Amino acid sequence: MQANASPSSPRGLARNLTGYGDAEFSIFLRKAFIKALGYTDDALDRPVVGIVNTASGFNACHRNVPELIEAASRGVLLQGGIPVPFPVISLHETFVHPTSMYLRNLMAMDVEEMIRAQPMDAVILIGGCDKTVPALLMGAASANVPAILLLTGPMLAGNWRGERLGACTDCRRFWARFRAGEVTADDLAEVNARLAPTIGTCSVMGTASTMALAAEALGMILPGGACIPAVFAERLRHAEEVGRRAVGLAAEGLTPSAIITPAAVTNAVRTTLAAGGSTNAIIHLTAIAGRLGIGLGLDAVDALARETPVLIDLKPVGQLYMEDLYQAGGAVTLLRELRAKLNLSCRTVTGRTLGENLDSAPGGGRPQQVVRDLADPVHAEGGLAVLRGNLAPDGALLKQAAATPALLQHTGPAVVFEDLADLAQRIDDPDLPVSPQTVLVLRRAGPKGAPGMPEAGYLPIPRKLARQGVKDLVRISDARMSGTAFGTVILHVSPEAAVGGPLALVRTGDLIRLDTARRRLDLLIEETEWQARREQSFGSPAPVAARGYQRLFLEQVLQADRGCDFSFLTSPVRSWI
Ligand code: FES
Repeated sequence: MQANASPSSPRGLARNLTGYGDAEFSIFLRKAFIKALGYTDDALDRPVVGIVNTASGFNACHRNVPELIEAASRGVLLQGGIPVPFPVISLHETFVHPTSMYLRNLMAMDVEEMIRAQPMDAVILIGGCDKTVPALLMGAASANVPAILLLTGPMLAGNWRGERLGACTDCRRFWARFRAGEVTADDLAEVNARLAPTIGTCSVMGTASTMALAAEALGMILPGGACIPAVFAERLRHAEEVGRRAVGLAAEGLTPSAIITPAAVTNAVRTTLAAGGSTNAIIHLTAIAGRLGIGLGLDAVDALARETPVLIDLKPVGQLYMEDLYQAGGAVTLLRELRAKLNLSCRTVTGRTLGENLDSAPGGGRPQQVVRDLADPVHAEGGLAVLRGNLAPDGALLKQAAATPALLQHTGPAVVFEDLADLAQRIDDPDLPVSPQTVLVLRRAGPKGAPGMPEAGYLPIPRKLARQGVKDLVRISDARMSGTAFGTVILHVSPEAAVGGPLALVRTGDLIRLDTARRRLDLLIEETEWQARREQSFGSPAPVAARGYQRLFLEQVLQADRGCDFSFLTSPVRSWI
């Protein structure tokens, strides 16, 4: 089924007719209901721009979506098109059980099918919170109708007693301080009221900010659109521009498959690395690329990481917030600094190339402290390292820029938690056999094990160690971690324990060696012991569900190194990065 129209295909409201077996009758009937919506016949001749409405009472990061729709609609109308908003699933990180990742693919399917089913010549994708941007891009890539991304924008930073605060790096930092007894419950309540002071997405380089920068590098956002704060009037003016441009995209038939190419995905990965961005972004970019037959291998990510320094000084890797990056020129400043490492000939939603966009974007050259020079990076290597070894044959990720340098080469005894419930029950047990050398291991928290691969990889420091002043331990899991978190945390171990990955074989007391320099993660037990444990665990059933979405999820979800997409939604790989 081909959703994007050829020049001779029906356009506007005459597209994608309802199947009555009589096209003229379908148009006759649709016209009647177009009039019921309040339109005149004039609307039938105009390009239709669908606007994905991800507003929800459960999505704080999308509270400005109604006014973005209004501004984008104004832009569409000014350019002679008809704007038609329509709802899809909306996901917020803290309002979804068990985790938003469990529903990302459902949202992507919703987006794809509603773009495909309804009559639109182009679509504006409004999103912002962590999983919404990946889901929108995955769905739009598969539907392959001309599409442009409009972000809700980051929130401003807060302030508590003179100290700048932002969701959610400082949420985790203050929670850790509370657990260590360094702040009182009353202080924590005050902080809680100031962590998210405005509408918008998290104000640090978490997944939302990372995906915003990656999407601008990918070419799916108008230049400058990644970093404008949600509350600024400029965000609305940008939305109006997006509306205008969407009409142009409809006329040109410029589809996501012409923009999201292997070179563009490489640019997006490089930008993620230079931003010191979220590990989640690698999963999402793998899934987006996979929709168009582009394979993003972890070894390629590691190779890019080794030659891409971290340039942005934002939390959790650095010190600043998204509003600072905006004032420093946003993604354009970063991409200009990375220029020599990017493929500048990639087409973007402007209709021009990335290089042309960077040449013509306003600003630049101002003194600023947020985006460093290539010669003076925040970290010399990219933010992420890909690990392999007998514990992670298909790979694992470490956000090395956010890790404790002394722990990057470390051997220590494991303390194993069987699953999330076991972790919650025992992590603060006074008898837990932990020391600063301990390696905490959490298993059955991967795509199938949890299910949905929750952001549980940032295991808390056991309270008895926290109270001794221990701030970090090596932590290993098949889970994910919020992009706002920090520490020596090894994530996405593939294959996961629930499908027989070697993480299932680890026992408390085993020695584990992390060798970041050699990109290795190994369980140090004898081969005979390894085989004996393998035989004991052989045949452990993978999780199943009797019905519904959970059954679909457990049957179809791919491992982290494949982007956690559903196997039947990916395209055969035509080119590898
Ligand atoms: Fe929505 Fe952080 S919770 S971006």
